[in-house]
Amino acid sequence: MEFDPEAVRAFEHAGWQQAASAYNATFAHASAGFVEALLDAAGVSSGRSVLDVCCGTGVVTAAAARRGAVPSGLDFSAAMLAQARRAHPRLRLDEGDAEALPYADRSFDAVVSNFGIHHIANSDRAMAEARRVLRPGGRFAITTWAAPTENVAWRLLLDAIGAHGDLHAARAPPSGGNLQTPQAALRLFEAAGFSECRAEAVRREWLLSQPRDLLTALARGTARTAALIDAQPAAATPAIEAAVAAAVLRYRRGDGFAVPIVAILASGTTSPG
Ligand SMILES: C[S@@+](CC[C@H](N)C(=O)[O-])C[C@H]1O[C@@H](n2cnc3c(N)ncnc32)[C@H](O)[C@@H]1O
Repeated sequence: MEFDPEAVRAFEHAGWQQAASAYNATFAHASAGFVEALLDAAGVSSGRSVLDVCCGTGVVTAAAARRGAVPSGLDFSAAMLAQARRAHPRLRLDEGDAEALPYADRSFDAVVSNFGIHHIANSDRAMAEARRVLRPGGRFAITTWAAPTENVAWRLLLDAIGAHGDLHAARAPPSGGNLQTPQAALRLFEAAGFSECRAEAVRREWLLSQPRDLLTALARGTARTAALIDAQPAAATPAIEAAVAAAVLRYRRGDGFAVPIVAILASGTTSPG
């Protein structure tokens, strides 16, 4: 299948609309561990204005407000925004597309996106938009997921599907870019004209109560990974579930399980005006 930006956009939009009600109870436990490092990388502090692109249920927007910053969140999924508005009624949260931000040039001191950019069909357009709305000298910081070979949570799933199901079953349109390494994220920032670009791998743990929670979270709280799980032949599902749960047992910690996860944290600055 060829890269088709409109197909990617429609696929992602439908996926997040569907994941919204389960997101906070499931996948947010993986993505939330990187929020403070992301805000630090963008220099978000008291009194600074910050745009949270792909804000989803508002986890990062709310964390920026707790720092005393003046945040706005933006997402294209009305269902994700409904969750955000319910949990954080005082936050400014706008519906819109990261590829065409509804804000004037030079509106924000910082822009952040936690696990958003790799979902956007034209990530170079989203980078250009972030740069446009930043004030001179402002910093844009993003997180993306490192490759599954580095990321135990995804590797356990893909190993189980490889052994018992079909890794090519999902009829998802191929995504626009590969941002799974620090080098790829750095290239994205440099190509978009940012300076003082940095990218590094950041390691955390995904804390789970039960071994079966990993597959449940990926199936209910994501878009692309959920589509892969959903597309597995019904006859293979019990073996996949059992294999993932058995693999999670190796990561026991106290009453629960701590599965290693790795993100790429990348950032860059706009030239001083
Ligand atoms: C993995 S969630 C991350 C949510 C949030 N940043 C967090 O850390 O919990 C990805 C989000 O990107 C949003 N998204 C994907 N493509 C988008 C686009 N083109 N414009 C705006 N939002 C988009 C989805 O609706 C979803 O809420």
